[in-house]
Amino acid sequence: MTSTVAPNHDRTAAFWMPFTPNRRFKASPRLFVGAEGMRYETEDGRQVLDAIAGLWCVNAGHGQRPIVEAIKAQAERLDFVSSFQMSHPAAFELADRLAAMTPGDLNHVFFSNSGSEAVDTALKIARAYHVARGEGGRRKFISRLKGYHGVGWGGVSVSGIGRHRRDFGPALEVDHLALPYDAARSAFSRGQPEAGADYADELSALFQLHDPSTVAAVIVEAVTGSGGVYPPPKGYLERLRAICDAHGVLLIFDEVITGFGRLGEPFAGQALGVVPDLMTCAKGMTNGAVPMGATFAGEKVFDAFMAAPESQIELPHGYTYSAHPLACAAGLATLDVYRDQDIFARAAAIAGAWEDRIHALRASPHVVDIRNIGLLAAIDLAPRPGEPGARGAACGQAAFDAGVLIRTSGDTIMLSPPLILSQADIDQITGTIASALDGVV
Ligand SMILES: Cc1ncc(COP(=O)(O)O)c(C=O)c1O
Repeated sequence: MTSTVAPNHDRTAAFWMPFTPNRRFKASPRLFVGAEGMRYETEDGRQVLDAIAGLWCVNAGHGQRPIVEAIKAQAERLDFVSSFQMSHPAAFELADRLAAMTPGDLNHVFFSNSGSEAVDTALKIARAYHVARGEGGRRKFISRLKGYHGVGWGGVSVSGIGRHRRDFGPALEVDHLALPYDAARSAFSRGQPEAGADYADELSALFQLHDPSTVAAVIVEAVTGSGGVYPPPKGYLERLRAICDAHGVLLIFDEVITGFGRLGEPFAGQALGVVPDLMTCAKGMTNGAVPMGATFAGEKVFDAFMAAPESQIELPHGYTYSAHPLACAAGLATLDVYRDQDIFARAAAIAGAWEDRIHALRASPHVVDIRNIGLLAAIDLAPRPGEPGARGAACGQAAFDAGVLIRTSGDTIMLSPPLILSQADIDQITGTIASALDGVV
């Protein structure tokens, strides 16, 4: 079949881009054609330092050869096999190795293709777990304001970001905890804020409001990520854990951003010392190279399903591409890279220098708050009067023009560099942001 392309054809017209103001983007497209280590190459040949690890996912840096080679070899050997009543050895090997890395007894892995699917899977498992135990009246979820859990129907329902939900309702029955953060007490705190464990007590109040015997699970990001990088206050997650336990409600950690070394440990559960009943991950699982997500279940949850007759499908759920061979090959190679290049320990080792340089930006114009944990950080800017988001966007553009890719959401700058960054990279990122802040009005 031939297609005719008009001489004045707009090559950007057909792609309806996700989470993008399409018309503004297409007026001045930002296109990347290559990537290696800490840097992207743009279509016009510029090197740009990637201060956001692609989209919080390229934890080991771009173009890792072992991952590239593993994907190539797998594509040659076995392009596809379903995991519905068949599978392939790498799927079991990857599950086994992942289970050995997870906190506590999160030993059972359900594969999907994205963080959104991992979240929807977790929510479905939570409801079906209660059904399996004869408590099918537990159908509600509690999540948290500013939480981001992807864009599936479950994830949209538990989202704490209004713009992501309000055009798409009605959603599942969900109530939201407050963001456990109070700038008056905690602005410019380093790592987990000292104040705010008491925000968890609101969960008891919500349970009383809804009747805890109608609640299936509480889902929170271990560290609020896309909503603005808010580390949990010291003691907060521990208290959520205790309140859930007291009422037979499952606790789900969404570790799509915090998984795979971002906090210097394999998962936030280990870095923060709290183990959930279910955990989601994606992104860093394959270093961003092939789409993949996973939902981990602890023994208590898994065992409830295994009480069903052996001939029965215990969980009628799954995706054509669950445990896709290319994703499993990428996942195994990614775990090798993390181990062989000591990536998580490198992240832990440089986190202090990162924190110091990020907090030094407090002296720059417009900065009203800075938060950080591990190799994550957010810098809040005062909005331009009457023009919310304009200053953040201008700062993002200035940094990009100067060779550093940062992420802005409204007037908040968010940073999540590859975990391989050096002191020189930190200096370039923070120096570029400081210059951008000096330059923007
Ligand atoms: C915490 C969290 N959960 C879920 C998702 C959704 O992941 P995906 O975009 O792979 O569907 C994201 C994406 O950024 C995320 O940060």
